[in-house]
Amino acid sequence: MTTAFDPLDLAGLQLANRVAMAPMTRSRAYGPGLTPTDATVRYYAQRASAGLIITEGTQPSPVGQGYPDTPGLHSQEQVAAWRKVTDAVHAAGGRIFAQLMHTGRIGHPSLLPDGLAPVGASPVAAKGKVFTRDGPKEFVEPLELTEDGIARTVADHAAAARNAVAAGFDGVEVHAANGYLAHQFLAPNSNVRADRYGGPPGNRIRFAVELVTAVADAIGAHRTGLRISPGNSLGDIHEPEPDATYVALIQALEAVGPAYLHIMETGDRALTLELRKRFSGVLLLNARTDGRPSGPQELALIEDGTADMISYGALFLANPDLPRRLRAGGPFNTPDRATYYGGDERGYTDYPALDGDL
Ligand SMILES: Cc1cc2nc3c(=O)[nH]c(=O)nc-3n(C[C@H](O)[C@H](O)[C@H](O)COP(=O)(O)O)c2cc1C
Repeated sequence: MTTAFDPLDLAGLQLANRVAMAPMTRSRAYGPGLTPTDATVRYYAQRASAGLIITEGTQPSPVGQGYPDTPGLHSQEQVAAWRKVTDAVHAAGGRIFAQLMHTGRIGHPSLLPDGLAPVGASPVAAKGKVFTRDGPKEFVEPLELTEDGIARTVADHAAAARNAVAAGFDGVEVHAANGYLAHQFLAPNSNVRADRYGGPPGNRIRFAVELVTAVADAIGAHRTGLRISPGNSLGDIHEPEPDATYVALIQALEAVGPAYLHIMETGDRALTLELRKRFSGVLLLNARTDGRPSGPQELALIEDGTADMISYGALFLANPDLPRRLRAGGPFNTPDRATYYGGDERGYTDYPALDGDL
């Protein structure tokens, strides 16, 4: 029987185990030019015992930034700063992919360089408020991407993927989940376009397929992953019938052959199983079983074949040596929500390992 502590061949990349660190925005890119800092180097190096680390969402272009102090992958300064992170993780025996996150309509002009405004599939504002430096503000109506704008955005992702490889990353995860730009194209309430990017599922998947294809062309399909969250309502997304859309997406991706599919579940295990059946690469699952946050019980999903790897968010944030703790059956540090986003090293690099400081 395969267990979470067995190695895994990820399209030729050897992973030490099947416990992944899920992508988590930490809003601490205080370096000049939105670069990761020395604290970021420590944070990821501490977590290098993961079979695979997926970084916090990084913007592939300035307009893709939706939260304060998130790092990018669009400048040489950022490439140089990320290089320190990947070197430290590799020196500690780990593997690391960068998540490319373009937040689309989830953002605010005050977070962007002068003259830039959030873009989206359609000029439909998300209901709710965005976190800015001056407190919460209403989401704005995004500028609808033209076909030229779409092509530029796809090219930005490909360039950021090349930057990721230049920075030493083992690969890139394309973010098409959680209500951000690619998800805004997938969902019928945020995409009301009348062109070939809107309407039936085969059109709404086009942007995500173009992103994955462009990234795979740039750095290789074996270095490319995709994250989806079918039915997730985050960012005012409404997907009443996700099955047809996501089945079509996975079918279209078979021709591209990305290394992994990362599903952030919102409770629909039947759809997870359906997508697994249709996807020939590695399935990385951020499981939502019976509505609970992922915990040690989720490892059984590797043993019964539901997934090839399990990713942990909050638990990995709070437990730098999570694979070891899972193997030992605990104990686990409790995540402190107050220090999730922004702040100093408290709640970032000071969670203790079982045998003291890492
Ligand atoms: C502080 C925090 C930041 C997050 N940021 C991201 C992100 O940048 N990209 C992403 O795809 N998911 C993000 N997520 C979602 C996690 O990857 C994960 O799917 C979620 O926490 C549920 O998994 P869990 O129960 O193991 O925590 C974030 C979650 C947390 C707690």
